[in-house]
Amino acid sequence: DLDLNLRPKRFVEYIGQQKVKENLKIFIQAAKKRGESLDHVLLSGPPGLGKTTLANIIANEMGVEIKITSGPAIEKPGDLAAVLTNLKPNDVLFIDEIHRLNRMIEEILYPAMEDYALDIVVGNGPNARSVRLDLPPFTLVGATTKAGSLTSPLRDRFGVLSRLSFYDKEELAQIVIRAAKVLEVGIEEEGAYEIARRSRGTPRIANRFLKRVRDFAQIEGEGIITKKIAQESLSRLEVDELGLDRIDRKILSTIIEKFSGGPVGVSTLAAAINEEEETIEDVYEPYLLQLGFLNRTPRGRKATKLAYQHFNYNFEEEDSLF
Ligand code: ADE
Repeated sequence: DLDLNLRPKRFVEYIGQQKVKENLKIFIQAAKKRGESLDHVLLSGPPGLGKTTLANIIANEMGVEIKITSGPAIEKPGDLAAVLTNLKPNDVLFIDEIHRLNRMIEEILYPAMEDYALDIVVGNGPNARSVRLDLPPFTLVGATTKAGSLTSPLRDRFGVLSRLSFYDKEELAQIVIRAAKVLEVGIEEEGAYEIARRSRGTPRIANRFLKRVRDFAQIEGEGIITKKIAQESLSRLEVDELGLDRIDRKILSTIIEKFSGGPVGVSTLAAAINEEEETIEDVYEPYLLQLGFLNRTPRGRKATKLAYQHFNYNFEEEDSLF
């Protein structure tokens, strides 16, 4: 599966997130030197920046196995008990979307993280009692798009808190060039930069665009990704020069046209454009905030002067109206 091959397996292949990477390398080396499990790691940041990839790299660098699950997938205490009791010493347990764990499950996780112990209730009625099962030492790697919505008892049990940030153009171009090699498609540096510029700082988006541009290059071009082919393909995918797609544009034009630039609450905005509130918050807003096109205020979202300018709207200062 080529998608799996696109994912770097070791730190040497992993481009960007320099600080996170350098710190993790040290913590992993130290844990290995002591013959211990790595402390629990919380990875946070917008979708598509490589949280799952990093969890896999952590396991590979530790020389252990990884078991993968997600917050919403763990419904009953037994689901969590099953994964925990199947771990081998120092293995990695990866829980994606860890902010979506329910409280009952979270409480089982606390002693598991802290003491490598599983407290289970056996019997019922007057015979019910709690039995403590020993677990092997393990590393919980949690991933979340919203570090802020983790409960503090859960958050406090992570020894390493790593926040991923958007990639810059150079890093994304390197990622695209590396992926093009794996996909065995020729690419010119300018072609890689064109894809990089429009990928919203996000490797997952860059890799998706690379595959679509490759299709255009192979059918309508000479099979090589040039700047021109990349530009034409991405315009045909309705991605603008800043990487904004139809939904980004819809979000901003709705705030500007229907809500006079805001402030407008997310739920009102979500209803107006027929999108999930959570998708707007987790997927679209982070990059619009980073571009400086959107402001989050206590009374809701506001489009900024930059957003008005990008979409060629006339921006009037509030106090110039009086
Ligand atoms: N593919 C996705 N993310 C990557 C990264 N950070 N480095 C290299 N390849 C990647």
